[in-house]
Amino acid sequence: EKKYDYLIVGAGLFGSVFAHEMTKRNKKCLVIDKRNHLGGNVYCEEKEGINVHKYGAHIFHTNDKKIWDYVNQFATFNNYINSPLSLSKGNLYNLPFNMNTFYQLWGTKTPEEAKQKINEQIAKYGVKSPNNLEEQALSLVGKDIYETFIKEYTEKQWGKKATELPAFIIKRLPVRFTYNNNYFNDIYQGIPIGGYNVIIDGLLKGIETKTSIDFFEDRQHLESLANKIVYTGKIDEFFGYKFGQLEYRSLRFENEVHDIENYQGNAVVNYNDAQYSYTRIIEHKHFEFGKQEKTIITREYPENWDRGKEAYYPINNDDNQKVFKQYKEESLKSKNVIFGGRLAEYRYYDMHQIIASSLAKVEEISKRKQE
Ligand code: FDA
Repeated sequence: EKKYDYLIVGAGLFGSVFAHEMTKRNKKCLVIDKRNHLGGNVYCEEKEGINVHKYGAHIFHTNDKKIWDYVNQFATFNNYINSPLSLSKGNLYNLPFNMNTFYQLWGTKTPEEAKQKINEQIAKYGVKSPNNLEEQALSLVGKDIYETFIKEYTEKQWGKKATELPAFIIKRLPVRFTYNNNYFNDIYQGIPIGGYNVIIDGLLKGIETKTSIDFFEDRQHLESLANKIVYTGKIDEFFGYKFGQLEYRSLRFENEVHDIENYQGNAVVNYNDAQYSYTRIIEHKHFEFGKQEKTIITREYPENWDRGKEAYYPINNDDNQKVFKQYKEESLKSKNVIFGGRLAEYRYYDMHQIIASSLAKVEEISKRKQE
């Protein structure tokens, strides 16, 4: 008899939801994380009384009532609505692309005028079968929107020229013909009052957790502790990189405390121009309508990734997908290991999707056991 039913590697949302649900079903869980804190990428670090989103801005949004009710068991959400701004060539614009943006860009006042402008631009600059990201964007929205908001921003994000990036990176560029700056289209949106740690603490209440423990540093011993393993780390690392290394984009965050109450008047301001090597500045207090005396801002710099850095965004090209497929097939053979979460599935997931996928996994296992 082993001490635990499940050893859960990774205390992010996937692992925490899994542990919570299995504990409710009377399973004994141990959750470990190599970081010195729980929560994975949603973790907030408190400074100056402000919850700093340590791994990038996190805004909860979903259309799924079930997931919304689920997270609301653990925290009350505020009424924050994400309405980022974009600074481009000295001017500020509202995002996402909507009637405010078009007014700021062209002075167009009615949806008819804006539509006409966009269609003219697409007719003039678009191409039939786009071969790269630049051609794709020009074909979807025309030159002005592309040059003001997309070109330099995307080149910073990916560290490559837009003409050298594949077209598929941009599938759609939604434009909205109402004066509506709400970035997301989802019904439910907000920031948990007290920060994301409140949710993680609620999920992991009463569950054994250990931080600053890397699974690979004590693998045999850790594996011997539990009947099954839930692994939410990088899938290539689990298999010793035997089919090669999956690639990512990384980010570097530079935090600054300012001795003023309000730095930029908004939680998120994108910096489009190439002259800034960061892509955006986050002012954390505005996620929670904070009234603290000081403020904390974070500049977000896209970076090339190597194994020593945090893996943020999977690079979904054919080469990586081929490698991932091999790991995926291999993972299906490991009967005692459950793979889940953004790193094990090598996919970008939003928080609500990760919660849904963890709940689905628990359901699947519970059903199988009953049969
Ligand atoms: P997560 O990475 O959180 O957890 C995995 C954990 O496993 C980590 O804590 C890691 O340390 C641990 N681990 C890995 N290897 C290990 C090992 N060998 N031993 C021990 N522990 C190990 N979503 C959204 O809905 N709204 C938003 O606004 C944003 N914003 C956003 C910004 C940025 C910059 C990023 C990168 C992502 C977002 N997201 C988001 C997505 C969100 O962060 C994501 O959906 C969840 O955090 C994923 O949770 P996981 O549990 O899958 O991974």
